[in-house]
Amino acid sequence: MNIIEFRDFYRSELEKTNKESDYIFKILLKEICNIDPLKIALDPNFIVKPENEMLLRSSLKNILKNYPLDYIINKKSFFGYDFYVDENVLIPRPETEELVQWVIDDNNKNERKKLIDLGAGSGCIGISISKTISLDVTLADISKEALRVCNINKDILESNVKIIEYDMNTKFTNNEFFDIIISNPPYLDYSKKDEIDENVNFEPHIALFAPEDNPLHFYKQILVFANKNLNKGGQIYLEINPDFIKEFNSLLTEFKPNDVNFRVDFRGKKRLAKLSF
Ligand SMILES: C[S@@+](CC[C@H](N)C(=O)[O-])C[C@H]1O[C@@H](n2cnc3c(N)ncnc32)[C@H](O)[C@@H]1O
Repeated sequence: MNIIEFRDFYRSELEKTNKESDYIFKILLKEICNIDPLKIALDPNFIVKPENEMLLRSSLKNILKNYPLDYIINKKSFFGYDFYVDENVLIPRPETEELVQWVIDDNNKNERKKLIDLGAGSGCIGISISKTISLDVTLADISKEALRVCNINKDILESNVKIIEYDMNTKFTNNEFFDIIISNPPYLDYSKKDEIDENVNFEPHIALFAPEDNPLHFYKQILVFANKNLNKGGQIYLEINPDFIKEFNSLLTEFKPNDVNFRVDFRGKKRLAKLSF
């Protein structure tokens, strides 16, 4: 098949979905076949080699099953950096970039503060911060597979973050204190798990869902962590579930931060919070 016939094959297969066929085809050409998409216009008779034909066909099958394109190409752009991603980590979301920007705006004075990213996943939050301002950054996650992805991203993005295995449900035994805690913990409501988009279902459930009995569970764990390991005058930056703001506020009455600020994300949802102690 030549490249135009292949593009048309993608168009006809994806016609009944609401997916952008040409965009997907071009990304796959570039990222998995190493073929410049300009060839579609400049060299329409270009013959796709059998090994690439196989890759394009199997990718199309996955796309038709709503498997995320970012996992097929093992790449997601976040805060201007290309992060390696696979099925072991949440695909970084654009609203999380706004949380990263908030920390950067508040801490661009070249002070050597210590920050910990709890539930680091791909490492996108902590690594983006470490590449932009001079904070001493630690990434923590319970998942060994996610920590492996953090290490890959630390290497490919040449970051100097420290990576540790830590379960937020346990006591933090390192005698270490932080000036900033940042977290985008699992916060989807488990009772709504049958309603989530099909493509989200391919992401690790340990990264998506809060425990069934308490959608605020991880926020409480983070506040308990902060009680012991956050320096006086420190901040916690959180991505929160916009559907549980009332519950989040009542949790805060127990921990009494000096100041609480919320921000709405680019979708207009109250999704970001900063707590100052
Ligand atoms: C919503 S994802 C966020 C990933 C990444 N920070 C981001 O914003 O894209 C939540 C992360 O928390 C981790 N996690 C879940 N339970 C945890 C626990 N008990 N202790 C530490 N990390 C946990 C998951 O493995 C996952 O990587």
